[in-house]
Amino acid sequence: MTASVIIPMAPAHVPQISELERATFSAPWDEAAIRAELDNPLSLWLVAANGEDVLGYVGSQTVFEDTDILNVAVKPAARRRGIAETLLRALEQRLILNGAQRITLEVRISNAPALALYEKLGYVRVGLRRSYYEKPREDALILQKRLLCRTSDACPYKTEKERV
Ligand SMILES: CC(C)(COP(=O)(O)OP(=O)(O)OC[C@H]1O[C@@H](n2cnc3c(N)ncnc32)[C@H](O)[C@@H]1OP(=O)(O)O)[C@@H](O)C(=O)NCCC(=O)NCCS
Repeated sequence: MTASVIIPMAPAHVPQISELERATFSAPWDEAAIRAELDNPLSLWLVAANGEDVLGYVGSQTVFEDTDILNVAVKPAARRRGIAETLLRALEQRLILNGAQRITLEVRISNAPALALYEKLGYVRVGLRRSYYEKPREDALILQKRLLCRTSDACPYKTEKERV
């Protein structure tokens, strides 16, 4: 198991995130766009770091109570060790504290590892966007997860009971 900590993205992480974006996605975020997220008050990006090394990251933006996950990636050599799951759970905890109530994301319909990850974490399929992706052209599944606070201590807004 690779030891890693989950921390907010910092300027020093940006070049490695950019490199992993380019190695992973056919339409990667460029370095300037990732760096701009550091100053975006709507954005929260978390990094799984082992010392100076970025093993994985998740990027998100939240408008009012709705969060979009923009991207998630883990270095090939560090996959299947729970890093993406830990990143997503850490993101959820922070979003709950900030009052977010729902996470939405798109995923390529053929991306079995990502679909397995999201479904393990309780995301459900709520829609399909035809030909959403390019390079290669492919449909996107839209997945959502409703965030519920289990105790009033964990959530400054509404608890699960109060929301019913
Ligand atoms: C998808 C991705 C982020 C998963 O990262 P990871 O750190 O390897 O995932 P984890 O080890 O946390 O796996 C958690 C769960 O996801 C599922 N999962 C992850 N990879 C899987 C695979 N290759 N095959 C099947 N299930 C997989 C499993 O349910 C796993 O739980 P388990 O270990 O108890 O079986 C990684 O494969 C990746 O970076 N892929 C390329 C980028 C990408 O597709 N991002 C998503 C875009 S929407």
